[in-house]
Amino acid sequence: MKTEYFRVTDINGAVFEKAAGVINRGGLVAFPTETVYGLGANALDPAAVKKIYEAKGRPSDNPLIVHISALSQLGGVVSEVSENAKKLMDNFWPGPLTLIFKKSKAIPNETSGGLPTVAVRFPENETARKFISACGVPIAAPSANTSGRPSPTSAAHVMDDLDGRIDMVIDGGSSVFGLESTIVDTTGKDAVLLRPGSVTREMLESAIGKIRTDRAVLEEPGGDFVPIAPGMKYKHYSPVCSITVVDGEINKVREKILSLLSADGEKGISSGVIATKEDSGFFDGFKVIEMGSDNDEARVAASLFASLRRCDALGLEKAYVKAFSEEGLGLAIMNRLKKAAGYNIINV
Ligand code: TXA
Ligand code: MG
Repeated sequence: MKTEYFRVTDINGAVFEKAAGVINRGGLVAFPTETVYGLGANALDPAAVKKIYEAKGRPSDNPLIVHISALSQLGGVVSEVSENAKKLMDNFWPGPLTLIFKKSKAIPNETSGGLPTVAVRFPENETARKFISACGVPIAAPSANTSGRPSPTSAAHVMDDLDGRIDMVIDGGSSVFGLESTIVDTTGKDAVLLRPGSVTREMLESAIGKIRTDRAVLEEPGGDFVPIAPGMKYKHYSPVCSITVVDGEINKVREKILSLLSADGEKGISSGVIATKEDSGFFDGFKVIEMGSDNDEARVAASLFASLRRCDALGLEKAYVKAFSEEGLGLAIMNRLKKAAGYNIINV
C-alpha cells in the first residue's frame, strides 16, 4: 500500500475531504492531536477498526479511544454520563483528557476490546477537530506507532513506523503536549485515574475532589494486580535501546550516570544520557540527548518520546535518564519513563 502524505497547509480544506473519503471507505488515516498522533478509523465499522490492530501489531484485547469533534456526538457512543464525568467534561474538554463511560450499542466489540465501557476523547487540536468533523462519524484512534514503540509526536515518527501500512498521514507539525491523554474511569461511584497525562491529578482533584490512582500508574503490573486500562499491562514506549532510570539526590545521580557511561565506554558498549539543559554540561565527552529544562517540565514531557526514538537513531545500546518528581506533570513523565525502562531503576 502507498501511504499518502499531506501537510495540513498543502491543499487547504481539500485534505480533510480526502481524509474523510478514506475513512468512509473503511481506511486508516493518521492525524495530529495536541497529545500524540492518532491512527484513525471509523469507530462504528468493525472491519475498519480491525485494520488498526493489524497495522500496529496491537493485541486485540486492548481497546481504542473514540474521538469526537462536538459534544453532540457523545450521546451516540455512550449510554450514561455520571456527575463526575459532567464536571470533568465542563473543566477539561476539549483537551488532553479521555473519559471512560458505559458504552452505547453503536460501539462494536472491536472498538471497545469486548468491554462494556468505552473511552472517549474530545481533542482540542484544530486539525484533529476538522478531520473528525469532515468524517461525520466518531473516530477510533490509538497512538499511531507500532505497538510497543514510543508514541509518535510528529508525522515523521508515524512514517518511520507505519509507512506502507496505512492509507494516509496528515502532517500538522509537532504535538504540543507530547504525552498521551490522561485517562479517568468515570463509571463507578468514585473516579479512578488510569493513565496520567497533561491534565494532572492535581487538576482533576480541583474539579471533583480526591481521586484514586490505579496502582498500574507507577508500579509494574503483574503478579497480584491487573491494571484497569488493558493497555497499561503491556511493555510500552520502548526504544530498542535499553533505558535505565537513576533516582536520588541530583549530584549523586549525575555521578552515578557518569560512572556508568565510563564503564560502558571501557567495555565498548555504545551508551548515552538523556538529560535536561541544566544537567547536560556535566556529561561532556559523552553522547547527550537534551530533553527540555528543569524549569519547564512541559518541554520535558513534549520532547520525551522524541528523545527515546533518538536513542535508536543514534544506535545507542544503553541510555540513562534521571528520575523526576512525581508531582504535577512529573507523574505522567515518570509513568512513561518507568515503562520505557521496563522498571529498570537504580536508586542512589
Ligand atoms: O492522547 C491519546 O490518548 C492518544 C491520541 C491519539 O488521542 N491515543 C492513545 O491511544 O494514546 P492508545 O490506544 O495508545 O491508548 C489507549 C489506552 C489504552 O491503555 C487502553 O487500554 C485504554 O486507553 N482504554 C481504552 N478503552 C478503555 C476502556 N473501556 N477501559 C479502560 N481503558 C481503556
Ligand atoms: Mg499507544
